[in-house]
Parts: sequence; structure tokens; C-alpha cells
Amino acid sequence: MQPRGWPLVAMLVSSLAACRDAPAPTTDAGASPVATTSASAAPVPAPKSRALRREGSSIARSLRGATLLVADETASRLRRLALPLVDGPGEELALEGPPAQVIALDGLALVTVRTPGLVLIVRDEPGQPLAEVGRVTVPADAWGLALSPDEVTVLVTSAWTQKVSGVDLVAKKVRWTLDVAREPRGVVVRPDGSGAYVSHLTSNTITRIDDLATPHAKPIAVPSSPLRSPGKPLGASLAWSLAMSDDGARLFAPRHALGALGKNAWFGAATVDVVKTSDDSVLAPQRWPGMLKSKSPLAEPLVSGADVDFPGGKLAPFTQPRASVLRHSTSTLLVAGEGDDRVVELDARALDPAFAPVRTYKVGAGYDPALGVASSCAAPAGLALSSDERTLWVHCAATFDVAEIALPAAPEEPPPAGAKDIGAIARFAADPLGPEGSLGRRIFHNATDTLTSGGLACAGCHPEGRDDGYVWHEAKFSTADGENANFVGVAENFPLEAHAKGMPRRTPLLVSHLSAGGPFGWHAQNNDVTARLAEGFGLHRWGGLPKHEPQNVTARALRLVPFLQKGLVPPPPIGRPLTAEEERGKQLFSDKDVQCANCHVVDTGYTNRAPYPMPKVAPPAGYDADPKLDFKTPSLVHLAGRAPYFHDGRAATLEDVIEKNENWMGKTKQLSPADRAALVAFLRTL
Ligand code: HEC
Ligand code: HEC
Repeated sequence: MQPRGWPLVAMLVSSLAACRDAPAPTTDAGASPVATTSASAAPVPAPKSRALRREGSSIARSLRGATLLVADETASRLRRLALPLVDGPGEELALEGPPAQVIALDGLALVTVRTPGLVLIVRDEPGQPLAEVGRVTVPADAWGLALSPDEVTVLVTSAWTQKVSGVDLVAKKVRWTLDVAREPRGVVVRPDGSGAYVSHLTSNTITRIDDLATPHAKPIAVPSSPLRSPGKPLGASLAWSLAMSDDGARLFAPRHALGALGKNAWFGAATVDVVKTSDDSVLAPQRWPGMLKSKSPLAEPLVSGADVDFPGGKLAPFTQPRASVLRHSTSTLLVAGEGDDRVVELDARALDPAFAPVRTYKVGAGYDPALGVASSCAAPAGLALSSDERTLWVHCAATFDVAEIALPAAPEEPPPAGAKDIGAIARFAADPLGPEGSLGRRIFHNATDTLTSGGLACAGCHPEGRDDGYVWHEAKFSTADGENANFVGVAENFPLEAHAKGMPRRTPLLVSHLSAGGPFGWHAQNNDVTARLAEGFGLHRWGGLPKHEPQNVTARALRLVPFLQKGLVPPPPIGRPLTAEEERGKQLFSDKDVQCANCHVVDTGYTNRAPYPMPKVAPPAGYDADPKLDFKTPSLVHLAGRAPYFHDGRAATLEDVIEKNENWMGKTKQLSPADRAALVAFLRTL
């Protein structure tokens, strides 16, 4: 073993110093000045400073120079913005694809590029242009980043391709890659470097990785929001980020708890689940059904639906947690609420910090009076703290701006009269979709407009235009507004008198599925996107659409469509020729006896968009049977990354789809095991 401890920063920094007058580094890793020095360099001086934060975010504070680094996904650029903040694009480094996260090191930055999957090492020295000095290729859709305490290993999550890789920054090599559950996103390394945890966007699974030298991954089902559970473990979505206490004893997982109880909590509620890393159990105890009769001030409103506000909001102090960072000096956790344009400061010592808001900073401003969306700082997506933890910078992804918040030394003390939630704010780019598409982008992420959403935005179920991996429950029930069809998270969210479990409705992936014409909806019930959106606005809430003029629905739908069609970024293509097995599967797919292509028509996105009667099967446990048996032929594009399958999610894998098909969807019974495997292998490439 070579001696470790600060080698990456020290070696890269010293090599950069040596190369200062050398020609500008090229993008070819082999020719970069860093690569040539990585093997040697014996005694290394300690670096001046270490990373302020070892977990990535879409924004970071440079360690040298008064600048911020922003991963501008829409423009495929890394930006360096000067402090104090001023409007303007800042200095730009054009990248080969959209960046997701950045970590600032001493004189350097690490950046993930989603497609092609890359980790870039970028020089970030004041007075010198941003420049790539090294790169490592990792599995596509590279997203989350976390650095080991010795700053030698960086862990990278690859969301669509479902991998976590360990990259040795000194050797600039991928040391290992592990297969993990769907949509790995947030990652955090234990303070002693002995392991890591990874969050997933589409389930309550948290993956624990032990031993970063010879790693193995263990998926752990971590029920969300136990305090608000109806007596059973709840699923989770939107676990974009993770944080960990200094001693490594507590892991913080801000997420969306699907089915959490609360007044009119049709969709559940935001939570911060605290996991004890000693045994990977959740700190908060789970409610039990008998507790429903409890008269405790917390339990009572959960059950009776009494009009009691939770601390900080009707259901939770924030919606759609999109980013988080621990503020060590105050033991608080800062969480960005994408849906309600706010940053909340929560007591990190609480059983569920979502129940313990200490301060709220409203970052969104200039709300459109008709559409209810912010004109500045909409959809906060990234957080960066200064070294003294007194300044927070917030990257607002839907309006392309950065806001600065002066954090109080004692956040629990009430703010002085007239104190503003945010200070400087600067816009670094205009929305490339133009004014209408920009409104659509903001509507998509916004959960506060009462017409489009009853508290959870499109992005709450269709994150990045993908899906939450969840099967929602649809049923009619009565509220003050009469009887309406609505979605809820779990059957217990329906009012008792509804006696409903709800029909299964799996969230579909939207990206690149909406450019073709209709119909839309699992039953092909909506002729075009606008009709679908109008139905959706009514379903995604408690009690049907509020009173409104029909043109208000159209106004929103018309803005959403350009964003849905042009603003969502498709998952990465497989990017290689088909193997022999996949070619065989391709032949079978279009074979006249197997018949897949009859309905999943290849030239029109693997669908003819027509509904077909499917055989009556028992609904999944916890759901009601759907009396209608006609289901629309779904497109099979981007199939591999969106399990589970069918309108009711009954097939967990593509193997399941084929094995359990009998002969009701095309003919597969006659296929040999090798041919079935070939068909599945081909489906995975779409
Ligand atoms: C509570 C979760 C949830 C929210 C919030 C939500 N959706 Fe959906 N969406 C679904 C589900 C579930 C379906 C399938 C429903 C069905 O077919 O009956 C769906 C279907 C769709 C479809 C039809 C896709 C197809 O291929 O047929 C579109 C388009 C769509 N949603 C867009 C949106 C937009 C835009 C928003 C925000 C205004 C939104 N959704 C909010 C869960 C959600
Ligand atoms: C008669 C028309 C038809 C034929 C033929 C057909 N499918 Fe389908 N397919 C459908 C319909 C309808 C659904 C949706 C059913 C549901 O959700 O309950 C579907 C769903 C699927 C899904 C799940 C997609 C998702 O998003 O959940 C896969 C995968 C699939 N089909 C693959 C195949 C393959 C492989 C073949 C050939 C062996 C085939 N299909 C033949 C109509 C057809």
C-alpha cells in the first residue's frame, strides 16, 4: 500500500503548480499534466484545506477564490460564478453532456457528467480558466458523488444504469462497480472511510456498501416516516440526497413517505428518516394500529383529520426534498423543498427532523398571479455552505439562478422584524425553452399552485420526467367538493367511509413518450396530452379540481406541453451495437409467431397506442380490481430502467413479464429458455 492521506489534492495541486506555464491541458486524460504525475510523488505537503463538503450537490463553494461552481444541466456547462453574486453567465466550461453534481477540492473540482458517464477533474484556481485536467469513464447517467475522508476515492452513482462505482482519483481508474437497486442518487461515505450509503429515488431501499477496498453492497428496506405510518412499513420516493452526522452514527434521508398519514394527506408527506448506522434501523418508532385511538396531540390529528397544522406546514414543513446539507455548528439539517421553493432548517437531533423545523427561508419570489409559479428561485435543487456555515447558496434549477442566504448563528431564535429570507440573487442563464416553456418547467416542479396540484407537483411523481416506481391507488370518494376520483398513496389514506382500496395505477415514464399523438392514460381514456393533463389535475389532489374557469386548465396544459416534449432529458441510450443474443431477441420480437411487434409497432416507438382487453387477473394485494380490462399498449422505449411493469406493477422484472405471459400478449409459451432470455436481453436495449 502506498501511503495515503491527502494524496489526491496534494499531488494534483503540486502537479498543477509545476505545469502552470505548460500548454493548456487537453481533454485527453492520457495527455493531461495530472496523469503523468499520478504514480510518483513521494512526500506530499499537507494541503492548505480539505473539501468543505464531501457529498456532491449541483452547487459548491470553491476552496480558493471567491467563486461558486454550478452544474448547469440544461446548458451542459460547469459555471464559475463570482462572489458577491451578479447576474450573468459567469465563466463557463462546456462539457460533453449534462453535469449533475460537483464537489470542490483545493484548487480542483470533481464533476459528474451524466451522458456519457464521466467523472471530470477540473482545475479551479483563481485567475486561471476552468480546465479539465483528468477524467474517468463510469457507467452512464453518472449523478451523485461522495468523497472518502482521505480524498482518494470518489463514489459515483449511475442512476439509470443502476450502478455505484468506486473511482481511485490518484490512479484515475474505476476500482469497482456494483449493481444496486433502481435509481441510485445520493451517496455518503462514513467519516472513518469504512463504508458508504446510497439512496434510491424509487423505493425505500438504502444500499449499504461495506469496505471500500473490496466492497459489497447490501440493500436495506428502510420504512419511511414510521411516526406517520398507518401501522405498516411505508414506501418512499424522492430520496435525492443523504447526509451523515460527524460521528457516523446517524444517517439522514430526506424523502417522500408514500402514504404517510395526515389531514388530506392523499400523497403522503415529506420526511427525514434518521437511520442508526449501528444496526440500520430507523430512529423513530413505528406507529401501531392501536395507537390510532390515542389522544396524544400528535396521534390524534393523524387519525381524526382534525384541522391541526404540523409544525411548519399543513403536512410537513417542505415538499419534494431535493437536496440537503448538515450544518454541523448548529446541529441542523438544511433541506431544499423543490415543490414549495423553500429551504428549511431542521433540528437534526429530532426523531424525525421533519417534525422539528427551526427556521424556514422562502427562496421563491415574484409569483405569477395567474399560474402560481415563482419568477425567481423556483425549484431549489442544490445547496452549498460557506466554511463558517453562516452563508448558504441555493441553486434554483427551474429559474437558472442562485440565491444567497445569511444563516443566523442561532436559527432557533425568531428573526428580527423585517429580516429578509434571502439576500443577493443572480441569474446565470435564460431558459432555452423560451418564456412559455419556462412557465411549463416551473409548473412541472411547483406544488403550491392550487389548480395543477393538491400539494405534490408533477416532478413529485415523475421526477425528471421519469417515474417514482410506484403504483398509486385510484378511487372515488366524497369530500366537501362532492364525489371525485382521486389518487392516494396507500388505502389507509382514503376516508374510512370510502371503503376503497383503489385501483392500481402505476406511474408511467413521460420522457420521450409524449411527442407521439394520444391516446394517453392506462385505459387510453385521454385523446391528447391536454385532456390527460386536465384529468390529472383533478386526480392528483384531495377532492377534485377546485372551482375554476376551464381556460385556467388549458393555460397550464399549454405551457406544460412544450416542457414535457423538449425540456425533459431522455435516459442514456445503450450506445453500443447489439450482441448476438440481443440480435436474436430482436428477430423474435418481430417474428410473426411471437407477434410482439403487432401491437408494439417498432417504427412508432414500440406501440400502436391502441388499447387491448387483458385477461382478468387478481389485483395486487392492497388494491381493488379494475372493472375495465382494456389497457393501452405502452411504448417500450426506455424499458429497462422503469420496473415494475404493467399498469398494476405486477411484474417486477422483464424476465417476469415473459415467464408469466402465458400466451395472452403475443405468443411466448413455445419459446425455448434461450429464446426467452434473448427476447428479454433485446427488451433491455430499448
Ligand atoms: C400522484 C402522482 C402523480 C402526479 C403528482 C402526477 N402524475 Fe402524471 N401520472 C401518474 C399516474 C399514476 C399516471 C397513470 C394514470 C392513468 O393512466 O390512469 C400518470 C399519467 C400521466 C400521463 C399520461 C402518460 C401516458 O403515457 O399515458 C401524463 C402525460 C402525465 N401523467 C403528466 C403529468 C403532469 C404534467 C403532471 C403535473 C401536472 C403529473 N402527471 C402529475 C402519477 C402522477
Ligand atoms: C395484443 C397487443 C399486444 C401484443 C401482441 C403484445 N403486447 Fe405487450 N403490452 C400490451 C398491452 C395492452 C400492455 C399493457 C398491459 C397492462 O398494463 O396490463 C403491454 C405491456 C407490455 C410490457 C410492459 C410495459 C410497461 O411499461 O409496463 C412489456 C415489457 C411488453 N408488453 C412486452 C411485450 C412483448 C415482449 C410482446 C411479445 C411477446 C408483447 N408485449 C406483445 C399489448 C400487447
